[in-house]
Amino acid sequence: MVKIVLKGLEETEEFGKKLGSLLQAGDLISLTGDLGAGKTTLTKSIGLGLGVADYITSPTFTLINEYRGRVMLYHFDVYRLEGADDLLDLGYEDYFYSNGVTIVEWGDKIENILPEERININIEKGKELDERIVSLSGKGERFEKIVRELNLN
Ligand SMILES: Nc1ncnc2c1ncn2[C@@H]1O[C@H](COP(=O)(O)OP(=O)(O)OP(=O)(O)O)[C@@H](O)[C@H]1O
Ligand SMILES: [Mg+2]
Repeated sequence: MVKIVLKGLEETEEFGKKLGSLLQAGDLISLTGDLGAGKTTLTKSIGLGLGVADYITSPTFTLINEYRGRVMLYHFDVYRLEGADDLLDLGYEDYFYSNGVTIVEWGDKIENILPEERININIEKGKELDERIVSLSGKGERFEKIVRELNLN
């Protein structure tokens, strides 16, 4: 587990951009954290790092938004789902195992159908108003490589 303290929105943007620039087709991020912790805000920054030009909005009501960047970005928010069954109709596997990057807000709700090789990111509020603490964990080579590269500077 790797923990990073983000002291404000600027640092969140910097971190997200850097992470986004390291992601490649097939990567999946499970984003967890309380309501309003900053999952969508972080996703916007990851999108910048992926070269997404469109404005990223929360998919809470649409379940999934798709964006074109250096690679496709599939942004899910499964907060309103009862469970993984609700995703079957959508053909979620085409997204999770795709030629794009997938980010799933509230990924813990559908953990049983997430690929095992993924990057888990939990974001929580810190002591200060705009401070956030990001914890990264995961399994597999991709996760380890990304953590190594994130630590470079
Ligand atoms: N360092 C920071 N990183 C991220 N968000 C921050 C930070 N500081 C303040 N914020 C604010 O916290 C709020 C986070 O809201 P956001 O919609 O990103 O949360 P969320 O986790 O996606 O919520 P939800 O569970 O409703 O989807 C925003 O208003 C954002 O501006
Ligand atoms: Mg959100």
